[in-house]
Amino acid sequence: MHNPFSLLCMNLLTHLRACSLNPKNSAQGASYSLGFTHWRGPFASPGWVPQKVHDDRSKVLRKGLGNQMKRTVMTAGLLIVVVSFLSGSLTHAGMPGPNPADLWHYITKVSPYKEWSFWPDHQGIQSGRAPHGPLYRVYVNDRALNSPRPPVKYGSIQVKESYNKAERLIAITVMYKVPEYNPKDGDWFWVKYTPKGQAKPFGKPAGCIGCHGTRVRNDFILVHDFR
Ligand code: HEC
Repeated sequence: MHNPFSLLCMNLLTHLRACSLNPKNSAQGASYSLGFTHWRGPFASPGWVPQKVHDDRSKVLRKGLGNQMKRTVMTAGLLIVVVSFLSGSLTHAGMPGPNPADLWHYITKVSPYKEWSFWPDHQGIQSGRAPHGPLYRVYVNDRALNSPRPPVKYGSIQVKESYNKAERLIAITVMYKVPEYNPKDGDWFWVKYTPKGQAKPFGKPAGCIGCHGTRVRNDFILVHDFR
């Protein structure tokens, strides 16, 4: 594999050799077109054609070098942008965006929440308080579970199932910790789903934040105490 810098060096070498070997170059009013025809590296644009340039060889070289440098700098810049974009998205690879559809897909298909764990101090089904229904169960993903203290790690998700008295599932409420989503209220994305996945409300609802905001120091989490 050649990197852009070794390619640049090879191009320059080829060009210099072509110029010095070309007998036309020593003649008065010489053309460097032959040299340039060799100089069509990966950075040469398709529309670029060898130019006829007269007498001043160093000027031609300087100009050529300048163009080549420009292309190299642009290519390197592009590479940096692409690489940083890729690594940025890899940091959160596989995590859903802060919107109801992506999150629902994630917690039901990509990483089904029923396979997650419970907080150690809040296992299985519990009897709840208003407004979440008389019975509920809270599942947490590994990122939440492995957060030793508040605030929990980004990517943490808590899923709460609410049941009625007959133990029928009536709602699924979710809190999802997203970088820079809502810094003033703990960066939580909130959503309430019907059992079929219809979302309302979602985002930054004042209602959710109002109640859970009574425990800001516990990162808005009510069922688990960090020690
Ligand atoms: C009236 C107060 C109140 C409102 C409004 C409220 N919650 Fe809660 N929430 C609670 C309480 C209390 C608990 C603890 C469990 C219980 O007793 O039902 C809880 C628990 C939870 C949990 C389990 C994790 C934790 O923090 O303990 C989630 C997830 C959750 N709520 C999401 C939501 C979402 C999403 C909304 C908005 C759509 C919302 N809640 C609105 C009071 C509220």
